[in-house]
Amino acid sequence: MFSKDIYIQRRRILASRIGKGIILLPGNREQGMNYRDNHYPFRQDSTFLYYTGIDLPDLVFVMDLDGGKEYVYGEEQSLEDTVWTGPLPSLLSMAEKSGVGQVRCISSLKDALKGGSAIHYLPPYRADVHLLLQSWGISEKPSVELIQAVVLQRSYKQAEEVIQIEQAIGVSVAMQRKAMELARPGIRESEIAAQLQAIAVSEGGNLAFPTILTVNGQFLHNHASHQVLQNGQMVLCDCGAENQMHYAGDLTRTFPVSGVFTSRQKEIYNIVLNAHESAIAALKPGILFKEVHLLACEQLASGLKAIGLMKGDPKEAVAQGAHALFFQCGLGHMMGLDVHDMENLGEQYVGYTPDLQKSTEFGLKSLRFGRALEPDFVLTVEPGIYFIPQLIEEWKATGKYSDFINYEAVEAYKDFGGIRVEEDFLITSNGSRLLGTPLSKRIEEIES
Ligand code: GLY
Ligand code: MN
Repeated sequence: MFSKDIYIQRRRILASRIGKGIILLPGNREQGMNYRDNHYPFRQDSTFLYYTGIDLPDLVFVMDLDGGKEYVYGEEQSLEDTVWTGPLPSLLSMAEKSGVGQVRCISSLKDALKGGSAIHYLPPYRADVHLLLQSWGISEKPSVELIQAVVLQRSYKQAEEVIQIEQAIGVSVAMQRKAMELARPGIRESEIAAQLQAIAVSEGGNLAFPTILTVNGQFLHNHASHQVLQNGQMVLCDCGAENQMHYAGDLTRTFPVSGVFTSRQKEIYNIVLNAHESAIAALKPGILFKEVHLLACEQLASGLKAIGLMKGDPKEAVAQGAHALFFQCGLGHMMGLDVHDMENLGEQYVGYTPDLQKSTEFGLKSLRFGRALEPDFVLTVEPGIYFIPQLIEEWKATGKYSDFINYEAVEAYKDFGGIRVEEDFLITSNGSRLLGTPLSKRIEEIES
């Protein structure tokens, strides 16, 4: 946990922004995998963690703004619980560490919510929390005011948080290095993926998201890792650790199984790397991340034009959406306590503004973050080129964007796979800073 002053200060700011009523933050509960007592690893809700730091299941945090009181609702461990788990820190001691005055029994919460005050809660993303809210008669109207206040606070990373994020990225770098070290013909993808998870767990944390480690990197979130690596293939490894404090890292590298890229792979790799670097150079306060995304798309389109896969004016191609045959997703996302930070609160609230609505177009609709950058934002930059045979066939059959796409040339790339390069950045007062230890990304560095 951070020192209690940090949590007290965070709550003070939240309270002053919401003003009156009750703020209700349910923590997460244990989830049975196949029967009740065989749990998935417990992961606390990130907003609950942000305001309390308490990493225990089955709690609810309540701020009574009218009465000026704060409570952790839960149950102290019983002797019978201790028989199974051994002694755990008492709820009261945890509440004290986060500067919360009082602990109350969870069974008294329902009545405490009946006073008629406005109850502010966030949209639940787990069914059991939804049911819990329903049992209190309040599941229908999450508080937009609370969503906006939480987003406003969590978007600006405090110095202490940046230290945690860099630590998580440090572990993620070690995972990436291990993947490059282990990759060789004959090894199965899952054997490598397992070693990456071992690093994250041995550092006291866990995976920040399910690892993507695949020779079929053309599929953006391909979690299947059953293939045996072969010479000539590339591995796309998108992995990240969350550290003990649950801050995330998120890195992607694409590297050749043989240790040496083919000339065709080099060509595409360098187009992606060029887009990546152009995007990084553009990061600074004030610029819309959507503009940075479009700039990267234009770089991808001109690179693809230079090797004959696209044609026409790259800017126009991107304006019309033709590049999305090769880059179907967004350039990046915020990162913090969640790898896609605060995505549960709604992408429109986190990544957009009332004046900048999220697009519904294929490609742009997957840009989770489009708004103007500000100092202390942390985000990823992750352009890629993905040759998805099914998509190519569909677009080719309907002649989609045929002014911009040279389908005959693209045909030869249907077995190519995908390339992504991803790093994490802090926006500073005049630009950006790469977070974590630098990890090889140029062709010569990766090969060596
Ligand atoms: N690392 C997976 C993602 O950013 O979606
Ligand atoms: Mn990412």
